[in-house]
Amino acid sequence: MPLKIALLPGDGIGPEVTAEAVRILKNVAEHAGKSLTFSTHNIGGVAIDSDGQGLPESTLEACLGANAVLLGAVGNPKFDGRVPSQRPEAALLALRQALGGYANLRPAICYAPLAKRTAFQPDKVKGADLLIIRELLGGLYFGEPRGFEASGDTAFNTLIYSRHEVERVARVAFARARERKGRVASIDKANVLECSQLWRRVVSEVAKEYPDVALEHVFVDTAAMRLATAPTSFDVMLCDNLFGDILSDQAASVAGSLGLLPSATLGGKVDLYEPVHGSAPDIAGQGLANPIGAIASAAMLLRFTAKMEKEAAEIEHAIEDALAAGARTRDLANPGERVLSTQEMGQAIEESLADVRDRRHSYHGV
Ligand code: IPM
Ligand code: MN
Repeated sequence: MPLKIALLPGDGIGPEVTAEAVRILKNVAEHAGKSLTFSTHNIGGVAIDSDGQGLPESTLEACLGANAVLLGAVGNPKFDGRVPSQRPEAALLALRQALGGYANLRPAICYAPLAKRTAFQPDKVKGADLLIIRELLGGLYFGEPRGFEASGDTAFNTLIYSRHEVERVARVAFARARERKGRVASIDKANVLECSQLWRRVVSEVAKEYPDVALEHVFVDTAAMRLATAPTSFDVMLCDNLFGDILSDQAASVAGSLGLLPSATLGGKVDLYEPVHGSAPDIAGQGLANPIGAIASAAMLLRFTAKMEKEAAEIEHAIEDALAAGARTRDLANPGERVLSTQEMGQAIEESLADVRDRRHSYHGV
């Protein structure tokens, strides 16, 4: 059965980085004898321009008919004056809601060759390997009522969570922790927010189903501090929608660049894969963007949707090898280092992928 992938390149650097992810996916498909089909659709600012709406009906239909969606980025400062519901970002939120995935997995790894590149002391960040599980369909992002009062001088949003929303995402966190170092840090603000008190209670209950996993509750402000001072002390971080959004960008600083981070959104009708970074309009169209977040998202697609674990791991090794060999896009380069374009980074990873495969073969004496 061919695997149908709906491609939504979106705005800014989205088209450039998704092109490199597709390059790698095509390479893998060819080697594995697996059929992947791609169809490309508009979303975000480009869709507002072409179709008058951020999430055109045809795009949504194509996504719902696909096995997985691979998205680049949405957002364009030209829409900055608009209310949230009329902005490109609203299209992404509507898509997330329609696809139904509630668990957003955001791994952040500090690769050894980049440890010197982060803002932190290399020995503090080296070895950091954490997984943020962000609840993606609830909380402040979607809570009603929301809006401006008639005066325009007062605005309000609603933070709301129900037991089942917390339970289902907590289960994903504990299950993933089992496959990793067996530790979950549940992030909340239970000293101030009722929602966080519910969150803490429900997570503690779910924890009883996973006695082999260690659970700690950490206030979000403390977690932010600890991410900067002792990132290796975290394994899985379970977060609500807003805290997960914020802490995943902070986790990117531990990895070295926001351009490195991938994500997978699971649990709904169709899985959604997208890099954590935004549309970066300031560098769009210049070949300056880092495609690793998008390529690593494609690896997650192979792992979770296509069940091609070997190929997913090979891509991840290829990324690590390319970085170890000195491949650097602009966001990763120290002064004086050679800077690769988005395409050149994609090519470098494609080349190391071939090496990774060769090495695997020789290990097995083939
Ligand atoms: C992210 C982004 C989105 C979010 C924006 C673009 C709506 O920041 O995926 O982290 O806030 O979820
Ligand atoms: Mn974000």
